[in-house]
Amino acid sequence: MDPEAIILSIEALRLSQETGISPSSALYLVAKKKRYTIKELRMARKILHTYSIYRRSASRYLENIISESMIDWVSKTILELISSCIIGGIDFGDITVLVSKLRQSMGKNWPEELEKHLGVLRLIHLRPMVEVNYPKWFTRYLEKIMGKMDAEYYLDFQDRVNPPMYASLNTLKMDEEKILKLAEERNIVLREDNRIPGIYLVEVSNTKALKDLMNQGLIAIHDFSSYYAVKILKPKPNEFVLDVCSAPGTKTWLTALEMKNRGVIVSIDSSWKRIKSQVKRMNFLNVRIVEVIQADATKPLPIRLEVDKVIVDPPCSSTGLIWREPFYRWIIKPRHIRMFSNLQSKILQNSSRHVKQGGYLIYSTCSITIEENEHVIEDFLRINPNFELVEPSLNIGSHGLRNLAEARRLYPHTDMCNGFFIALLIRRY
Ligand SMILES: C[S@@+](CC[C@H](N)C(=O)[O-])C[C@H]1O[C@@H](n2cnc3c(N)ncnc32)[C@H](O)[C@@H]1O
Repeated sequence: MDPEAIILSIEALRLSQETGISPSSALYLVAKKKRYTIKELRMARKILHTYSIYRRSASRYLENIISESMIDWVSKTILELISSCIIGGIDFGDITVLVSKLRQSMGKNWPEELEKHLGVLRLIHLRPMVEVNYPKWFTRYLEKIMGKMDAEYYLDFQDRVNPPMYASLNTLKMDEEKILKLAEERNIVLREDNRIPGIYLVEVSNTKALKDLMNQGLIAIHDFSSYYAVKILKPKPNEFVLDVCSAPGTKTWLTALEMKNRGVIVSIDSSWKRIKSQVKRMNFLNVRIVEVIQADATKPLPIRLEVDKVIVDPPCSSTGLIWREPFYRWIIKPRHIRMFSNLQSKILQNSSRHVKQGGYLIYSTCSITIEENEHVIEDFLRINPNFELVEPSLNIGSHGLRNLAEARRLYPHTDMCNGFFIALLIRRY
């Protein structure tokens, strides 16, 4: 094992602690400033991913042996990082060899204090590990909504199984057959997901070749759930679509694909920075039918339009993203769920004013909490009797909770995609 990956990870963790950003985003920033090989970067990513999952187990193990006051930040971080990776099954080979390489590479930054604690790394296999890899409130929450057995399976599954990579072909730039041929020539295996035509599972042996097709805008990676939401809405050519909370534009692009670049999509987002990157991305992907507006959707929208279809994809607590970003489990708190639920209700209410009679609205979040999903929809239907929840024509996932059978929930362990909620609503009058 190359010590550079561990050093890169320590620097990313330091930045993450200082700024509050996730370790994977911090790694991206740290790596921009340092020379590293692709292998080192990949390994650092794997180390931080594993650390995010098992750091609580590691610190419980260490706190029984080393008291917090006896140890400095770097020593503690090195011990936690290596311990969590050992618990998570990363094979570092001989720990003594690894430590000696690390000592050499870090030079004067190597904390002398660490020397007297190194024995704990060799003993870690001998201690039974406590299963503490999720905050208690989250485990209890899941048990409440899906039962103890299913919750346990879900939590274990998302830490064990690598999330698949899904992609769609950008037929706004090139014919499907031609893109598939280019992919085949580059040994990129695209296996069509038989649940929905048009979404592919990417099996890459050659990441450079995949990047090459992505850099040409011929393939874009996104989660299964985003495509499912758009497919349920069924946008058609020449329709008028309002896309609220649109940036960075994944659903906008997927909608434009369905509309064959004909019709109009009005995209609204409150962040000017994100809108600007959405515009750039839409130009790059050859989406020609989008008009963007910066607006805060918790207030009445600055448009006078009634449209065929509305997409509402508001910010959420991201509890459904933990298998892709394991660190989220430590930063999401119950108070965030309450805060988002409030915001989501306002955004849904304001967006719904622009659905024409007989038109449809899709509400989705990448969170699996009831407060951000079923509660928002129930409250909305109570004050908007002119809307009705409808059964999607594509039946994937499980039914919504609290008798919202027409809504859909997706979970990593049952649907191999992000945890997700979708509700399709029609405006009857
Ligand atoms: C889940 S992301 C949207 C993802 C996007 N629909 C896609 O498919 O790529 C949520 C978006 O909501 C935006 N947002 C947050 N608060 C908002 C508000 N009050 N009004 C409008 N947009 C908001 C964020 O800037 C962010 O881009």
